Amino acid sequence: MSVAHDPLDPSTWVVTAGRPGRAGEPLNYPISPVSTFAHGAERIYSRGDSTPAWEALETVLGGLEEADAVSFASGMAAAAAVFAPLPTGSRVLLPDDCYHGVVKLAENGSQQARWTVERLPMTDTDGWCSRMGSVDLAWIESPTNPLLETADLTTILRAGSGTSTLVAVDNTFATALRQRPLDLGADLCMQSSTKFIGGHSDLLGGVVTTRRPDLLKQLRETRSLQGATPGALETFLALRGVRTMALRLDRAESTARFLVKQLSEHPAVFNVRYPGFGSMVSFETLDGERADRLCQALGVIIHATSLGGVESTLERRAATPGQEHLPAGLIRFSVGCEAPGDLWADLQQALQT
Ligand SMILES: Cc1ncc(COP(=O)(O)O)c(C=O)c1O
Repeated sequence: MSVAHDPLDPSTWVVTAGRPGRAGEPLNYPISPVSTFAHGAERIYSRGDSTPAWEALETVLGGLEEADAVSFASGMAAAAAVFAPLPTGSRVLLPDDCYHGVVKLAENGSQQARWTVERLPMTDTDGWCSRMGSVDLAWIESPTNPLLETADLTTILRAGSGTSTLVAVDNTFATALRQRPLDLGADLCMQSSTKFIGGHSDLLGGVVTTRRPDLLKQLRETRSLQGATPGALETFLALRGVRTMALRLDRAESTARFLVKQLSEHPAVFNVRYPGFGSMVSFETLDGERADRLCQALGVIIHATSLGGVESTLERRAATPGQEHLPAGLIRFSVGCEAPGDLWADLQQALQT
């Protein structure tokens, strides 16, 4: 008989956690569309009382960070649940480079005079540290989307802990397998499970983890009141996807390292950005026209937005509405699980056009 380690390695945890487990039951929670439960037990109505499948997914995702997890209908729903309880007149700090949906969310709230927004480069560690205790919400994103800047999380989170500032980290690009901000003092950690957790570009989902019971209660209440609940099919797919997250990420990361080296040596490519872990890479071509041609010439890699799937995708970010401030030739590249040689051959032929 084999003896499991305690705690389990994360790659074992994602495979084994959150299963029904009793004799005669299926190994996986079935797709179970449910709004209401027969009276007489704890669960009454799923929006407020959760479902066994959401809880299974939350067990897997929370356990990866030794925290509690609350799953949402999308990454944006998860982000909105962090902003929702801020009292009117709050001060919010955001990175200069930040997922544009979250920027829009913050800007909308600021236009409605709910809060004010300040932006700082994620690399300005002193600037971030000096705001701790004076801003109400510090929303960190690291690595940032799409410029892949990384925060000195240890220093910034140490400065934030014990202050009145609520510190949240968007961990979508790193995942809990590469970075655990709650260990370093973050109050909340958010991920779009649409990306690496799901891993197959077939669902929308989001998750927030926390070790603070007061924030857990608030997140669940916000999810219920905003109705931002995950769908039954999406929950099933996220659970199915997360089982292979460690495998997928290892594979994609090693391919990303190989491609970063190749791209850095290619004469038509500039400013290759890679945070040193994970499978997100950004690079520049000389101008927008060349970047567009590259996108059109791909054969294996898919020209599409989003990231974190088994399939490699890339796009010219400045072509996205609201992202025109980015370098025109900037390509954001999500490396997938295909053979490294095939991906490099595809990029090489596309760069030639
Ligand atoms: C870093 C980051 N955070 C949040 C989101 C929003 O997630 P979703 O699309 O699941 O709402 C995205 C989506 O691309 C993202 O890249």
